[in-house]
Amino acid sequence: MPSAYSPSMPTPYYITTPIYYVNDRPHIGHCYTTLLADVAARAARLIGRDVFFLTGTDEHAEKVVAKAAENGVTPQAWADRNAAAFKDAFAFMNFSNDDFIRTTEARHTSKASAYIQRLVDSGDIELGDYEGWFDASQEEYVTETVAKENDYNSPVTGKPLEKRVEQNYFFRLDKYESWLIEQIETDAIVVAPEARKNEVLGRLKGGLNKVPVSRRIKDGDADWGVVMPNDPEHRVYVWIEALCNYMTVVDTNERRKYWPATVHLMAKDITWFHAIVWPAMLKALGHAPPAMIYAHAYFIAEGRKMSKSLGNFVEIDLLRAYADRFGLDALRWFLTTQGPLGANDADFAYARFVEVYNADLANSVGNSMSRVSNMINKYFDGKITHVCNGEYGFPNGTALQIALKALDNAGKPAAEARTYHFADFTKAAVEAAIEAHARMDLGEMLSQGLSIVRHVDDFISFCAPFTLAKQLDDLDGAEDALAAILYSCAEALRIASLLLAPTMPETMADLWRRWNCAHLTDANDANAAFVAPIAELTRWAGPHGLKHGQVITKGDALFMRADGKDPAPEVKEA
Ligand code: MSP
Repeated sequence: MPSAYSPSMPTPYYITTPIYYVNDRPHIGHCYTTLLADVAARAARLIGRDVFFLTGTDEHAEKVVAKAAENGVTPQAWADRNAAAFKDAFAFMNFSNDDFIRTTEARHTSKASAYIQRLVDSGDIELGDYEGWFDASQEEYVTETVAKENDYNSPVTGKPLEKRVEQNYFFRLDKYESWLIEQIETDAIVVAPEARKNEVLGRLKGGLNKVPVSRRIKDGDADWGVVMPNDPEHRVYVWIEALCNYMTVVDTNERRKYWPATVHLMAKDITWFHAIVWPAMLKALGHAPPAMIYAHAYFIAEGRKMSKSLGNFVEIDLLRAYADRFGLDALRWFLTTQGPLGANDADFAYARFVEVYNADLANSVGNSMSRVSNMINKYFDGKITHVCNGEYGFPNGTALQIALKALDNAGKPAAEARTYHFADFTKAAVEAAIEAHARMDLGEMLSQGLSIVRHVDDFISFCAPFTLAKQLDDLDGAEDALAAILYSCAEALRIASLLLAPTMPETMADLWRRWNCAHLTDANDANAAFVAPIAELTRWAGPHGLKHGQVITKGDALFMRADGKDPAPEVKEA
């Protein structure tokens, strides 16, 4: 659980994504991980933490050299082109990263070299002979067992493995075996979800080998990558250098407070490097390990694994086509709530997209917000005229009793006795959302926001304010009762909007403008803090709550209903 908020010293929250290879353009997988980090970072800002959210590109891979050669350009030119494509894609997705590191930048390479030198000095990196199966497509050695299991092809890409014998520098990962087991077993380093923790522990208990850190530079090799400090004949493997990015970027006087990282986020393909190699490197360097390694599963597309050979990667242009039709926030909602956040893969499928869009957004969030704005406009000239404590029950809930009387007068079946306590309900939802955020259970965090919306819908169906509105002249206290009911709906939706904002920032900022709540944060600055931590912002009828006289403007529907019979969005050929 995040600790208590203190405005002068908010607790740092440092979240990272993998840095992505620039041999190719970004696709849904890269956007998905970065989106999760964005949602977690935005939520942490709302909770009141001092957030640093880092993403970037991993540029010194051999496959970048190969791809550049195929395309007749230098590795740097190729890296520049694709790094720009990643930056564009991330801007389109409205990510609020605080920095974007390219590993070709001097601020990274100089510090990464220094860390490696320190590891040489401490005896954690040493020279030795190495013979093994190298997976050039993944830039890593695989064990004999893995090589054999896969017929000496890459377990990830299926490309042939190469037998390499070389004199290398090695990192003495073996020294840290018992420390790692202890850290992960006790959750000093949380490896999540649970399936990943068990996998990592299982592999750890099978024993650790030294990890090759460098290879000898051969004639004709491109001048690409970090050279081994004090040994110009060796080049550092990209993985060892790349992992350092999480530290190089915050190893400055202003940013040092962000270490240790709160969450390193990634997919399960690279859990090993993050949960084992990196914490051991940090230990050897004398730094605290990250608090959490979170490795989600994979997106597949329309029921099939995405692969180069099938040519079915969900590319950025397709994501743009979805955003054009449904809105970017709807795309962000779908990816966050339906994606492979846990241990199971998830499908990016059009039919499912429409179903979720209609159920969660058009029919729930959007509809509820419009309905309540419309009623406040129709019955109260678009103003809040009554502030109440959100408590409706028997026998004291006068507003509800009057509403039920109205239903009775209208000949509608008498509703069963129910208790609604919005202040308690919303408080519990906010607390559960904060708790889910700490576990990186972002789906649960968002479902707490949606549960408030559904509670409002349920309350509206139960007490039927539109029926009550027809009897304003005939029923004593009807007007106050109606105003109280609508206040409760609007205030509850305001609280829901805060919980939904991390994944739908633009749409919720739009609602805040309509409802005159825009002062809560600077909608034009995604990295800005809110005026108060979430516990204050969401206090029922509190200092940031809807006030007497507050203007609630009507507007267009936030989400138009979608027709699943329309053909799926497609990439328009240029
Ligand atoms: N450069 C390394 C990471 C170094 S971090 C110090 C790398 N790069 S990568 O470009 O291959 O990105 C892998 C990451 O992309 C995965 O861990 C995941 O975050 C994301 N994804 C790639 N394909 C994905 C899916 N199909 N589904 C979900 N995420 C995926 O590995």
